[in-house]
Amino acid sequence: MTIIVTGGAGFIGSNFIFHMLQKYPQYRIVCVDKLTYAGNLSTLAPVMEEPNFRFVKLDICDKAGVQQVFEEEHPDIVVNFAAESHVDRSIEDPDIFLQTNILGTATLMNACRKYGIRRYHQVSTDEVYGDLPLDRPDLFFTENTPLHTSSPYSSSKAGADLLVLAYHRTYGLPVTISRCSNNYGPYHFPEKLIPLMIVNALHDKPLPVYGKGENVRDWLYVEDHCKAIDLIIHKGREGEVYNVGGHNEMRNIDIVKLICKELGKPESLITFVADRKGHDMRYAIDPTKIHAELGWLPETKFADGIKKTIRWYLDNRTWWETIISGEYRDYYEKMYGNR
Ligand code: NAD
Ligand code: TYD
Repeated sequence: MTIIVTGGAGFIGSNFIFHMLQKYPQYRIVCVDKLTYAGNLSTLAPVMEEPNFRFVKLDICDKAGVQQVFEEEHPDIVVNFAAESHVDRSIEDPDIFLQTNILGTATLMNACRKYGIRRYHQVSTDEVYGDLPLDRPDLFFTENTPLHTSSPYSSSKAGADLLVLAYHRTYGLPVTISRCSNNYGPYHFPEKLIPLMIVNALHDKPLPVYGKGENVRDWLYVEDHCKAIDLIIHKGREGEVYNVGGHNEMRNIDIVKLICKELGKPESLITFVADRKGHDMRYAIDPTKIHAELGWLPETKFADGIKKTIRWYLDNRTWWETIISGEYRDYYEKMYGNR
């Protein structure tokens, strides 16, 4: 079994590669990643020399490059994590989101059509459903909730989802889609809420909370997401969408206060700043389908996961310090420039 994992030098993709290599030592994993600002090849250093692992530095929008990898590797499965993933960046500059998230998805699926594939899996997000009101805690996103996006990021992900479903219906491509809630855990790029707050708190820098901090996200430990994708690519039904989330709703402000408490830092570091434009109020996933069909349940409780995550950032300072200094961007040239 050969699996192409795109975006594997990022947060969730790298965790997925570690999970798969450990669980299926007989599989071949080929990571395709452009190494944008969000890709950090040093994350993959522990597996770089494994005989059943290959890293290819490549843009998923590069048609010829993608086809070459298919010709060389004959993949059975493609799991597409590669994306521009940060909402705030999409508000500043939407173009690259449309390019990578929509056209990149099309490029991958066109190669799947040309060479044949057992499964194309699209890693999507609960953000395609838009948001829920704070005063209706009884409402959750199901797979049938209409797409209703707020940001250029979520719109580009929704566009890709529609394209994936169209390739299934029109060409019979064997696809699945997972729509997961907010992830947290090791290797999370320190521009996102949880790692940003941990890193700023460790530097005694202000903790910028958007608006009043009342927005709610449904947090899932990254390993649980990886296990859900593992189940879907092996046992999920073709043409189906699976929501992934663990009923773990938290207000932003409560997360930031918890991080202060765990790190022994004063809440006076919290600074309320201008709200994000079009800021979604609440995300909440109904994971009934993936539980009923595939037996998936989250294993890590938030109280434990956040402690593990904070511990990881304390124990792996070099990982995020080289990101903040920008040094991580030289890693590829240094390690692989002459190979
Ligand atoms: P990330 O930003 O940490 O990583 C993205 C990776 O994709 C990076 O390694 C980057 O170099 C690579 N990449 C970007 N553009 C590329 C291109 N054109 N060609 C090849 N590689 C490219 O993102 P993440 O948080 O790991 O998210 C991974 C996927 O999961 C995304 O599709 C995202 O929409 C989805 N998702 C994320 C979350 C979350 O909470 N982080 C939740 C649900 C779904
Ligand atoms: P983020 O981690 O960017 O994920 P997403 O927008 O995809 O949910 O943000 C999580 C929440 O935290 C979101 O409501 C925005 C908020 N937020 C802040 O309040 N301050 C920050 O500095 C960041 C990055 C996010």
